[in-house]
Amino acid sequence: MMLLLVLSLCCIIEHSFGYNLETELPVIRRGDAGSYFGFSVASHSFEAFDTKQNQSWLLVGAPKANNTAVPQLANPGVVYKCDFSKDPQCLEVAFDTKGNRNGDQKDNSWFGVSVMSSGHDGYVMACSHRLLHVEGSFFTYPGRCIGAADLEGRFKRDIYDFCETKNQNKANAGGTDTINYKDHMYCQMGLSVSYLKSDRVPLIGAPGVYNYQGEFIYYSRDQKEVARNNSELGYQVVQEATELVSHTLY
Ligand SMILES: *[C@@H]1O[C@H](CO)[C@@H](O)[C@H](O)[C@H]1NC(C)=O
Ligand SMILES: *[C@@H]1O[C@H](CO)[C@@H](O)[C@H](O)[C@H]1NC(C)=O
Ligand SMILES: *[C@@H]1O[C@H](CO)[C@@H](O)[C@H](O)[C@H]1NC(C)=O
Repeated sequence: MMLLLVLSLCCIIEHSFGYNLETELPVIRRGDAGSYFGFSVASHSFEAFDTKQNQSWLLVGAPKANNTAVPQLANPGVVYKCDFSKDPQCLEVAFDTKGNRNGDQKDNSWFGVSVMSSGHDGYVMACSHRLLHVEGSFFTYPGRCIGAADLEGRFKRDIYDFCETKNQNKANAGGTDTINYKDHMYCQMGLSVSYLKSDRVPLIGAPGVYNYQGEFIYYSRDQKEVARNNSELGYQVVQEATELVSHTLY
């Protein structure tokens, strides 16, 4: 018994070396009250343009924050970058600087509900699963994600709007087919997001698709939807997605 105790103590001591986690004086960053700052987090590192030094950020989603670039929107949600080595505060990442247009209702759209980085010098993505899109009397919650290969300077953004496009195609078709169309109306894509390293593609969860059956969207050159009945798959993409992609697509 004593030996066991000594052994486990050894292990504890051994494990406590080389692991410097400061518990007495933590560095704390706070968001605005009610902004849900910290709802999602992802660490991101990259080689800076100017210094050529590695830099790392913590990307923090605050899905009810106000966006200073578009103050007319109420609580659209914001993703912040926190550089613990340089900045005393976290700064907004300018993912989206446009107001409501073309039927978008970005108020309370929960941008930053999910955020991911694919790794060092990697791809970054953040989503708003509660984006409301209105076409006449047609109300949809397609969800939307914004990705970028680089967040420095005037970064180029990619828009991921799979469900919006599906809905738009149906709306353009017209007739009873359009009126009865429900499949992608409440996709809420982006509630979860991950990255499939083996294929180097983003995976985006869409829990509301097909009457809340849920699926994830696999962004290869041909966009694919991967669904499994009654699983609400879009809620948690990571593990299941990897399994399903390997079983379903190959
Ligand atoms: C965002 O702005 C709205 C006014 O448009 C205000 O009511 C709300 O409290 C603000 N939210 C946060 C988190 O600051
Ligand atoms: C930056 O980080 C990458 C990945 O961790 C590493 O391979 C590289 O050597 C680093 N570069 C510098 C200048 O430290
Ligand atoms: C889910 O199951 C229902 C009934 O079992 C079927 O009609 C439907 O096509 C299935 N959906 C998908 C996407 O497989």
